[in-house]
Amino acid sequence: MPSPSREEGEKRGPSSPLPVPPGLPVAGDLHQQVASCTRCPLHEHRKQAVFGLIHPGSPWMFIGEGPGAEEDARGLPFVGPAGRLLDGMLSALGLERGPQVSIANVVKCRPPHNRTPSDHECTTCLPFLRQQITQVRPRILVLLGKVAARTLLDSPLPMARLRSTAHLFEDIPTIVTWHPAYLLRTPAEKAGAWADLCHARRLLNEST
Ligand code: URA
Repeated sequence: MPSPSREEGEKRGPSSPLPVPPGLPVAGDLHQQVASCTRCPLHEHRKQAVFGLIHPGSPWMFIGEGPGAEEDARGLPFVGPAGRLLDGMLSALGLERGPQVSIANVVKCRPPHNRTPSDHECTTCLPFLRQQITQVRPRILVLLGKVAARTLLDSPLPMARLRSTAHLFEDIPTIVTWHPAYLLRTPAEKAGAWADLCHARRLLNEST
């Protein structure tokens, strides 16, 4: 079945599935699948699944770990303290949330007590993220933290090794950097994170 346009999504009646929120022009079907997913135990505790901000064609795509309390409550990615730091990182790059930037997480439902999602939860949710990346086709992927890096790169290597080089996910240039929540606890690493983001920007510019 073809994806409904955003307008079609907005016309649905009260007994129909959830409407597609702003910022999701063509991702309607996938959004419905994520919203009603019960593939892993994380769905039992969520207030709502957090689909992400998916902008097909955005050059940048940032991938985090999974929703926290504020994301679970509001249904949007990175809207808590880590999100405010992510917004600062975007701003330092001359970016802001919008058509240039897609933001998603490895798992779409909040792990109870903000625990790290298990490998099983990450791999169960991965098909959704793969489809999101396919919809966006970013020119650069930025993996925020160990969970995103290890899941997408299928690598057990430590962050120091993963950050030290550029990767390809499918054929998309990919950079690993620290998760903003880690940077809030460890501000001394912010300089390293900035170097990672500059590396990502160089790769993106080289790909034009
Ligand atoms: N941490 C994440 O990894 N993702 C969010 O959306 C919020 C905090």
